[in-house]
Amino acid sequence: MSEIIFDEKSKVFHLRNNEISYILCVEELNILAHVYFGERISNYSGGLKYPRFERSFSTNFSEISHRNYSRDTLLHEYPTIGNGDFRIPAIEVEQENGVALLDLRYERYEILDGKPALNGLPSSYLTNDDQAKTLVIYLKDDCAKVEVGLNYTIFRDLAVICRSVIVKNYGQSNIRLNRAMSACLDMPHTEFEVVDLNGSWGAERQISRHSISPGIKIFSSTRGTSSHQQNPFIALVEKSTTENQGQVYGMALVYSGNHEEFIEQDQYGQLRLGCGIASYGFSWILEPDNVFQTPESVMVYSRKGLNEMSHTFHDFVNQHIVRGKYQSKLRPILINNWEATYFDFDDEKIKEIIDSSAELGIELFVLDDGWFGQRSNDRQALGDWFENKKKLKMGLNGISQYAKSKNMMFGLWFEPEMISENSDLYRNHPEWVLSAPGYGKTFSRNQWVLDLSRQDVREYIKQIMDQTLENVSIDYIKWDMNRYLTEVYSDLLPTYKQGEVYHRYVLGLYELMEYFTKKYPEILFEGCSGGGGRFDLGVLCYMPQIWTSDNTDAIARLKIQYGTSLVYPISTMGAHVSAVPNHQTHRITNLAIRGAVASSGMLGYELNPTELSNEEKEEIRTQIAFYKKYQQLIQEGIFYRLRSPFENNETIWLFVSRDQRKALLFYFQKMAQAAPKLDVVKIPGLNPNAKYLIDDKVIYGGDELARCGFYLFPFLNGDYMAKVFEIQQLDTIL
Ligand code: DGJ
Repeated sequence: MSEIIFDEKSKVFHLRNNEISYILCVEELNILAHVYFGERISNYSGGLKYPRFERSFSTNFSEISHRNYSRDTLLHEYPTIGNGDFRIPAIEVEQENGVALLDLRYERYEILDGKPALNGLPSSYLTNDDQAKTLVIYLKDDCAKVEVGLNYTIFRDLAVICRSVIVKNYGQSNIRLNRAMSACLDMPHTEFEVVDLNGSWGAERQISRHSISPGIKIFSSTRGTSSHQQNPFIALVEKSTTENQGQVYGMALVYSGNHEEFIEQDQYGQLRLGCGIASYGFSWILEPDNVFQTPESVMVYSRKGLNEMSHTFHDFVNQHIVRGKYQSKLRPILINNWEATYFDFDDEKIKEIIDSSAELGIELFVLDDGWFGQRSNDRQALGDWFENKKKLKMGLNGISQYAKSKNMMFGLWFEPEMISENSDLYRNHPEWVLSAPGYGKTFSRNQWVLDLSRQDVREYIKQIMDQTLENVSIDYIKWDMNRYLTEVYSDLLPTYKQGEVYHRYVLGLYELMEYFTKKYPEILFEGCSGGGGRFDLGVLCYMPQIWTSDNTDAIARLKIQYGTSLVYPISTMGAHVSAVPNHQTHRITNLAIRGAVASSGMLGYELNPTELSNEEKEEIRTQIAFYKKYQQLIQEGIFYRLRSPFENNETIWLFVSRDQRKALLFYFQKMAQAAPKLDVVKIPGLNPNAKYLIDDKVIYGGDELARCGFYLFPFLNGDYMAKVFEIQQLDTIL
């Protein structure tokens, strides 16, 4: 159940389901204050009302003479700056007369069944209105003529609250919005730490955990994309929180552009955290009668540690973010020719790859970069999305048909947002590049970014890609994006609207993604941005999986996939077995560990199968058979992180099927030890009353495995080793 209760007398709003409560109230002078977010409260009496007392130097309201009620200290829901609260604001505006103030007071509320879609932005969805309820609280500043609608959706079956904000100008003059966060959460003084996912190309979503000290810490991307460097997510955890115990407040943003997650500890130890579009480079002119819609933020509460937070995020993403045919369909095992050939391929090479992949049992062949225009290296042809018949004499159709004749599906790579200087597109439309008058156009990977805020650019991309998609039988598209944004200026917008370009780029991108995914619902789309540079909930609203990282090294992938799993389910992570020495780290690992790591995601291969020995081919056939046997468990099961590669030589993770009948335990060892510790691993999530067989050998009770565990023995000999334990429930219930 989910319910939203409003108590007229105390002016308290209480949103709750079986797991969580979120409480806010309308305070004196119609200030909207935060009260509580956390484990469910069955009877809220109003006891947590913010105490009234005077703090030296704190501000007081102009309307009252006493000094014991201040904006400076109160816990707010959607704070502004400039009239008494000096902490980081949720919203900042500039009125036409230069006044940079907003005094938001409570006006009214609405309670809705279900959840309204967001205006022009991707957001979570319901399959039935019973799955959630939404509270909309309207705040107003009648001097600035600004109304703010705060949306809170509480889900029936998940410890999740989604928030978003609509800002409306109901006056006669323009308003400049300089900041509009999606969510802000004030909390009383508590000793929390903050967890975030940071990294770089090839090392995305590494987990960091820091203590919180007085002041402001901002985690952010200013690169125009959600970025390799900082994923749009933070969590507050208690000092004692582990994977399996302790409170966690997770916050993630459904957005693919510049974002910021902030945390402030104020002078009295109170906390303010929030997230939204980054303020850097952002401003928005809100014309009379227009609205600005913020992206959606997703807040998850767990009282049983990070694993439980991740389970909630995973269920939420699988049920309310990912959509379309492949939401519940098992994903094809693919082979991608990128690391096998890079740009150096022709029909013959491709046919050979298809032939030997088909023999291995691979189900989908993906033709990566290099099939179009004059693209023989990364200096040219982006934007010229027509096939290169000199390079591929059979043409795309011929290759697609060839793959089909071998019982394989066919997939194709695009990088729709980009343009090369040496391209027909640039020769015809130099004005379509994102660039600023008087400045050079900064290169990255020898390429520039198209100005997606322009409709003519978006129409070109639709039309040129349609030509291929309508004429070639394509089952899969990899949508790549290989640089960040610079010279963010658009020719078609007036000077005073240039602060809108970053966000308009993202809106343009979403329009394109919406167009292609709606028009071609049979195609499996995989997001990509130089690997995992745009791994976010915005992309996942269109594409059910994302290429997790360009780094395919099994050992590096342990951390990348472990970190990614904090928020994103296994069903969203593309993971490939590649050749050794690995192309990114030059490390040599055995095929077994490469297979085990890639099988912990949406399995694919990224190597030249014609170069494999017979033994390697046999091993890959076995890997594929194993994956197919357990594919449903891996794609849809419950994933537990048991031992972290960030802190240990060993990594352990576990998949348990929803019906608790099967489980797979993956055990990885980085370096061999002369005198290894004898490890006991405990297995959560099984039926405590059932018996389980491990590797067809030993029978254990479900509660025995959870509490006593079993010895990880014999030891793994050698560096970079993996072992997968198959756990099956016996039909006899104890
Ligand atoms: C970056 C991607 O992440 C790679 O997998 C590959 O598609 C290259 N781009 C191609 O240019």
